[in-house]
Amino acid sequence: MSKCKVIALANQKGGTGKTTTAVNLGIGLANEGKRVLLVDADPQGDLTTSLGWADQDNLSVTLATQMEKIIRDEPMEVGEGILHHDEGVDLIPANIELSGMEIMLVNAMSREFTMKSYLSGLKKDYDYILIDCMPSLGMLTIKALIPHTQRKNTLYKFLNWVSKSLLKH
Ligand SMILES: Nc1ncnc2c1ncn2[C@@H]1O[C@H](COP(=O)(O)OP(=O)(O)OP(=O)(O)O)[C@@H](O)[C@H]1O
Ligand SMILES: [Mg+2]
Repeated sequence: MSKCKVIALANQKGGTGKTTTAVNLGIGLANEGKRVLLVDADPQGDLTTSLGWADQDNLSVTLATQMEKIIRDEPMEVGEGILHHDEGVDLIPANIELSGMEIMLVNAMSREFTMKSYLSGLKKDYDYILIDCMPSLGMLTIKALIPHTQRKNTLYKFLNWVSKSLLKH
């Protein structure tokens, strides 16, 4: 069984240090010899920018493109398009295209598990996967949180409720 730890950095409030924590925790763990994957789950793409990929609109593979492939049941290679940073961390980047995902996810089957399906194929290659969430409790944040939360947990029940409410409106 994979020993990979998946940590989602989430807070409804903007500018509370989520991205800064993802970068510093990630590079700190890499300096300790851990294999680290950072996932930019924010359409603002701040994590992608802060790691040096400023021209993010021209990235051909992003979290959005990979999740879309899963939703459409299209073939994809595990690890395709993952960027490697000099500081020893890997990155799945994001750009504004990710905001369109929120809409697509509302109609997708098992929508809260799409990100889990994608990341589960990568867990064997990493000790830590850190997900930098956007500052809202939308579908993408729920997808980052739900699969890694115990089903009996109050947080899980709350997120499930929010997820169902989002579908209704
Ligand atoms: N521990 C800290 N001490 C002082 N300033 C900090 C600290 N952590 C982050 N900052 C600063 O706070 C600002 C917001 O940080 P950051 O972008 O990491 O927040 P965020 O929660 O990811 O924002 P968003 O919700 O927009 O994604 C940045 O200017 C950052 O440099
Ligand atoms: Mg951020």
